[in-house]
Amino acid sequence: MNWTILNVSIPVHDLDKSKQFYEMLIGSAQNSEILYQPLFDNEENIFFGRQGFGLRLFKPKPDLLVSNYIQSRRSYISILVESINKIKINLDKDNVNYIFKNGNKQNSFKSLLVQEPSLNLIQFIENSSGVNENINGWDMDLDWGVHHMNLESLDVRKSIDFFCNVVGMTEGKWVAPVNKGDFSIDPSELAILPLSNNNTGLHVIKPDEGFGWRNNFAHNPSIGGHPAFTVKDLSALKKRLDNEDILYSDAKVYAMPGFHQIYLYDINANMLEVNQAV
Ligand SMILES: [Fe+2]
Repeated sequence: MNWTILNVSIPVHDLDKSKQFYEMLIGSAQNSEILYQPLFDNEENIFFGRQGFGLRLFKPKPDLLVSNYIQSRRSYISILVESINKIKINLDKDNVNYIFKNGNKQNSFKSLLVQEPSLNLIQFIENSSGVNENINGWDMDLDWGVHHMNLESLDVRKSIDFFCNVVGMTEGKWVAPVNKGDFSIDPSELAILPLSNNNTGLHVIKPDEGFGWRNNFAHNPSIGGHPAFTVKDLSALKKRLDNEDILYSDAKVYAMPGFHQIYLYDINANMLEVNQAV
């Protein structure tokens, strides 16, 4: 099944302050093209990117005020698919609950909210021609793109089984660089659902409490999931982070060949990765 990343949604406490933080990170928020944005009308939000592709900051509500949808307290991914119907049939077959919404006047797209086996919220949005268009979350004709979404899973094989056999994605093989860091690429501990041969897509990892310590990082990217953004000038970003006294772990090229990675928290303590092709 063809799929692509539409956007990652990141929960924030203060939308204005968080907007400033993300503008420092990747550049200004652009709201001019709304195509997919009306799908996300449950929360107050701010979009970075184009047409709803890219990044969305949202302000979660108190859980007891939410009745007709489910909200995530972690960053989560929205995925564009050619067809939702097959996913729905498979979920029904497996007795997995989900929330399905037909398109309406404000937004013409069907969508489905579901939790994968490790309870990460995943949103699917149907557009039969949208996955083949030039624009996607990775390439928006801007200076940045969404490289991957990393999901923490307590049972990596169960999560991968869900994405492959229920959703219809295809698993790939993790290719590590020559100077690989100290982490496991056993498919029961780290797996990939690739969108390309440069590791874009979905990453699924078993939490590894020693990951940060063994690799000399201040951050542990195996816990809690994280979105990863690719930028064109990582050293300029590192200078801005230095100027603002923001802590980051400079992992260099250690997990993906040809990608220099850094990790940091946003001002809401959401884990982020930023990388650059080198
Ligand atoms: Fe990552």
